[in-house]
Amino acid sequence: MRIAVYGSGGREHALASAFAAHGHDVTAFPGNPGIAKIASISSGPFEEIEAELYVIGPEAPLVAGLADLLRSQGKLVVGPGRDGSQLEGSKAWMKEILASAKIPTASFRTFSDRESAVEHLKSYDGPYVIKTDGLAAGKGVLVTESREEAIRDVIEKLSGQAFGVAGTTVVIEEAMEGPELSLLVLCDGNKGVALAPAQDFKRVYDGDRGPNTGGMGAFSPVPNVGQDLVDLITSESIDPLIREFKRRGIDYRGVLYAGLMLTKQGPKIVEFNIRFGDPETQVVVPRVKNDLAQMLFEVASGKLETEPEFIAEAMVTVVLAAEGYPVSPRTGAVIRGAEDIDLDGVQIFHAGTKRAASGELVVGGGRVLNVTAKGRDLAAARKLAYESISGIYFENMQYRMDIALSASKVKDTYCG
Ligand code: AMP
Ligand code: GLY
Repeated sequence: MRIAVYGSGGREHALASAFAAHGHDVTAFPGNPGIAKIASISSGPFEEIEAELYVIGPEAPLVAGLADLLRSQGKLVVGPGRDGSQLEGSKAWMKEILASAKIPTASFRTFSDRESAVEHLKSYDGPYVIKTDGLAAGKGVLVTESREEAIRDVIEKLSGQAFGVAGTTVVIEEAMEGPELSLLVLCDGNKGVALAPAQDFKRVYDGDRGPNTGGMGAFSPVPNVGQDLVDLITSESIDPLIREFKRRGIDYRGVLYAGLMLTKQGPKIVEFNIRFGDPETQVVVPRVKNDLAQMLFEVASGKLETEPEFIAEAMVTVVLAAEGYPVSPRTGAVIRGAEDIDLDGVQIFHAGTKRAASGELVVGGGRVLNVTAKGRDLAAARKLAYESISGIYFENMQYRMDIALSASKVKDTYCG
């Protein structure tokens, strides 16, 4: 099958690799130097690529209506239209739809007015959770114990300084506690089929310290998260959402990313995204045994029939990020070693990389490379990932040392 992939991150590199490994012919726009080794690169426009299936990676083009444009030309597309994309495009809209579908989530209030928001923060003790309404690349969320910090954040967000128009409404919500879980669900408009669960590391520094990022690493499977829990999440959160979409006339064909917190009261939704997670895709997709392209073709056609099967081995990915990420990443550093690694079970997915005129690979964005390794269990996969990192260098490269660390110590990992 000829497949067009939109995007330039580690997620798109992982998707393109899986498609190419099953013999499909991939064209990517705009792609990256890693994708260029396994696929053709198009200079765009995306809708002019000739293909049987169009897979859109990031949220921004979906929110802007790219899937609608392609569908209006009769193309088969993985990704929701502008209507379903509001789920990620507006946190306020997402919370409202969760409430109408009675999906377990944190209680919340929405504010556009500074005085009422500050008054609300003064009405209870923390922790405080403040979210920018619109798209902010995973960086618009503050979780803090400090009321002063919360008030400063709300004032800054509502002034439009921090995230422009995207930030002029905020959602302030109840703080939840518990381990986080990411579930990527394929959805054909009528039903959702979950892929293997994964866990993501959102904060920039070890021990979950520092600001939130797009994600600094991930692993799959997740200890003690088995099919029964996946089934519970599907029946409590995924099925009701799809029913609510249908009730509102939204034909959602694409990936639903459920970000959950496993609280003492049960799994609760932190957020829904409208696409494959990054870096979760880098550990979930390589565990899919089936031809993922065929499943996505069924998703786009509104008839998902293939049941996914997963390899028993574990995957771990560690993000190598640029100096200054996530606040102000510095680009331009020369990357050494990344293209020389040839180890069994290791894949290096490119994200923020660029090919300089000299031919050298250089840092071109905040999250630069995803060092991804497979092992018989999380401990083995983790060891291999970190060993591989020792062969890669760029100036002031930063990464977390604790990706999958505590999970790798859990005995009897349930391979969900
Ligand atoms: P989001 O962009 O909504 O996924 O939020 C980013 C991160 O902030 C999440 O992965 C959580 O770690 C944290 N977070 C978001 N909402 C809450 C909440 N209600 N309670 C506690 N932590 C949260
Ligand atoms: N890893 C978080 C996200 O894709 O939004």
